[in-house]
Amino acid sequence: MITARSAPNIALIKYWGNRSNNLRLPAADSLSMQLDGPCVEVTVESHETFSVPRDLQRFTTHFALVREYLRTLGIPNALPQAVRIGITSQIPSGIGLASSAAVFSALAEAYAAIISKTRPLSRKEISVIARLGSGSAARSVFGGFAALVAAGSGETIDSAYAILIAPKNHWLLYDVIIVPTQKEKSVGSTEGHALAHTSQLFTDRIANIPRRQQECIDAIMKRDFEKLQRVAEEDCANMHAVMQTSTPPLHYLSEETHRIIREIKELRTREHLPVLYTMDAGPTVHLICPEEAILKVQAFAQSQKGCKVFETQVGRGSFLL
Ligand code: PMV
Repeated sequence: MITARSAPNIALIKYWGNRSNNLRLPAADSLSMQLDGPCVEVTVESHETFSVPRDLQRFTTHFALVREYLRTLGIPNALPQAVRIGITSQIPSGIGLASSAAVFSALAEAYAAIISKTRPLSRKEISVIARLGSGSAARSVFGGFAALVAAGSGETIDSAYAILIAPKNHWLLYDVIIVPTQKEKSVGSTEGHALAHTSQLFTDRIANIPRRQQECIDAIMKRDFEKLQRVAEEDCANMHAVMQTSTPPLHYLSEETHRIIREIKELRTREHLPVLYTMDAGPTVHLICPEEAILKVQAFAQSQKGCKVFETQVGRGSFLL
């Protein structure tokens, strides 16, 4: 039996909308910071029938796509006909905390370990396998800061993959995660991606992503926190505007989210704190900051009544145990 471990990533430039929904080929590039927790462990072993503790349809579809990808690599029989998957997770699901990114990057790592008996895969190839289950999972195959490259308009199964932007030790950043509610969200990101193009703001968003992606890469390379804050908050606001103007509209942020944002903005102005906020597809607020701000950001998070808090930092991505 193979066991792999991973954790979520937090997007600084968000992935929202596909050019192919079936193949999870994103409409544009995205970029994230890998976190060191909360962790997910995935086990995989050969089995007579396909078995998984949750979302059978999604994992079956993913398995079929992975086998199709292996055919394109000329190694069609590198995975068994069926597997039994086990999942142990510390992440509450459906709260916008990218649990699917952690699960599918760990699963890709475990599949790659089995496939390596036929032929070792590159990190890029493993990221394609992760992407076929959850687009953002491709980025969690790398530690540190990683981009999901949409790579033009190609429609083949491997025409989007992740690349490393900077390793974990490049910049010590923290992500203090405030989870205001553990209520499952009503529309998951897979369905959400398919609605993105119904927003009138979507074309403009796609046109602006190359600029924002480059600004974000520059900010990371220069460890320029102010620049990172500007571009990450701009992109987050823009993605949520697209979500809220799609048909039907998707409102992932709650009253609590808005209150937390208001309060952290007040705190950072008052105390000149380097801290940025960002939210994925849920009400959970991520407060990203460098070392100099961590104690105050932690104290702020701990003072939030009724919220679950995770204190994380840049992590190493998926790996085998
Ligand atoms: O990987 P998915 O299909 O769960 O989509 C992730 C979508 C966002 O979390 C909202 C943005 C991102 O880039 O992670």
